[in-house]
Amino acid sequence: MDKKVVLITGCSSGIGLSLAVRLASDPNKKFKVYATMRNLAKKERLLECVKGLHKDTLDILQMDVTSRQSILDARDRVVENRVDILVCNAGVGLMGPLEVQSLDSMRQILEVNLLGTIQTIQAFLPDMKAQGKGRVLVTGSTGGLHGLPFNEVYCASKFAIEGACESLAVLLQHFNIHVSLIECGPVNTDFLVNLQKTELGDESLQLVDTHTLSLYEKYLQHCGSVFQNAAQDTEDIVKVFLDAIQSPSPAFRYFTSGVMPPLTKLKITEPDGSRYISAMSKIIFSAEEQ
Ligand SMILES: NC(=O)c1ccc[n+]([C@@H]2O[C@H](COP(=O)([O-])OP(=O)(O)OC[C@H]3O[C@@H](n4cnc5c(N)ncnc54)[C@H](OP(=O)(O)O)[C@@H]3O)[C@@H](O)[C@H]2O)c1
Repeated sequence: MDKKVVLITGCSSGIGLSLAVRLASDPNKKFKVYATMRNLAKKERLLECVKGLHKDTLDILQMDVTSRQSILDARDRVVENRVDILVCNAGVGLMGPLEVQSLDSMRQILEVNLLGTIQTIQAFLPDMKAQGKGRVLVTGSTGGLHGLPFNEVYCASKFAIEGACESLAVLLQHFNIHVSLIECGPVNTDFLVNLQKTELGDESLQLVDTHTLSLYEKYLQHCGSVFQNAAQDTEDIVKVFLDAIQSPSPAFRYFTSGVMPPLTKLKITEPDGSRYISAMSKIIFSAEEQ
């Protein structure tokens, strides 16, 4: 049987890397994986994980999702001339008080997370439609389902991805193309290191009022403890990707924790939003701030 051709973005670390390794190591060699990354100088980590054993199931390609040309060049290097499963995973975070974020930083996040994902899908869509089948999997975030203070632009980018994917899913079912979002909570990856974060000592914070600063400090503590105590490992996330990939009729949305997180549920059960806002605020900033 022909191998399923999988192309994954953002494979230099984290979820993309783990997924590429797992699929390329499939015992039945069911997949041919094109692991893409914007900077090929970072490919050693991936190569170390596969230990040179996967020459027939893994290829590494350069792809920067913010560059249309780079996406098209990678697409043209897929020797099978088709991609059965496209995984849009590349993403970056932006954390800090909104008033200190430069237009450039905010643009960069939207360029990668939103437009990068959309223009990657755009590049592969005509071929999938022509084939009459395909899978598009996108690494989503619970930050795309409910808002998080000090992550306004990141959440905006991930909320926007929800809208783009849901809209596409409605259309693409008519082409036998399934779109799935893999909704992650905190995951142990390089995400926190790679994100653009306003550090507490940053000069830019001198212009910020003291109340915001003290709330930001609390948020950073909360974030640190959530990642320390509740983050999933990339292997857990990869299992969910595999469920979606192997399902004959994949769902649109998968929660990596298995069920919809309670805070996300609150948005559905209490649609006016006030319960969510006070619950999240209480969790992060503690009761005395209410
Ligand atoms: N970790 C979490 O807690 C978490 C939670 C929810 C959702 N997610 C989502 O999961 C996805 C993967 O993140 P991760 O946690 O695995 O973090 P990560 O280890 O930082 O991986 C992010 C990947 O995206 C790549 N990337 C960034 N900009 C790119 C660009 N312009 N073109 C191509 N690749 C680019 C990075 O490449 P470089 O090495 O070159 O920067 C890296 O390979 C992201 O979409 C993120 O939003 C993560």
